[in-house]
Amino acid sequence: MAIEKTLAIIKPDAFGRGISGEILSRVHKAGFKIVAAKSLRLTAAQAEGFYAVHRERSFFKELTEFMSSGKVIALVLEAEKGIALWRDTMGATDPAKAAPGTIRRDLGASIQNNCTHGSDAPETAAFEIGYFFAGHELV
Ligand code: CMP
Repeated sequence: MAIEKTLAIIKPDAFGRGISGEILSRVHKAGFKIVAAKSLRLTAAQAEGFYAVHRERSFFKELTEFMSSGKVIALVLEAEKGIALWRDTMGATDPAKAAPGTIRRDLGASIQNNCTHGSDAPETAAFEIGYFFAGHELV
């Protein structure tokens, strides 16, 4: 059994459209335990720090402006092979390319307004979980 934690974000587009509940329902249906959750609004600097790995990409400015444009919900999710399971539950980054039944295909509007984020590897998950949560919050 490879139980993994992953960092999920319900992005400002989803929070603003009132579909956080629908996304949390899909989290539960996929079999995750919610280890920690908080809602907050990122500053531009915090969004830039979170997405620092993308700082050279053409979409970095747009992405960080979008991610600091409204409230988000940050979640630590846990399941067997949780990193891949959450990425499968979200679907491909671009909603137009995501499989039917996935969050991004069903609820996403564009590659930027794609409702959710998820860590892509164990090292990324460790960094991203630590970005939002202190160790004592992971119970
Ligand atoms: P996310 O999983 O949060 O990781 C980086 C984000 O950059 C991605 O989801 C998209 O929302 C956003 N993004 C915007 N434009 C692009 C693009 N052209 N290619 C990949 N990601 C993009």
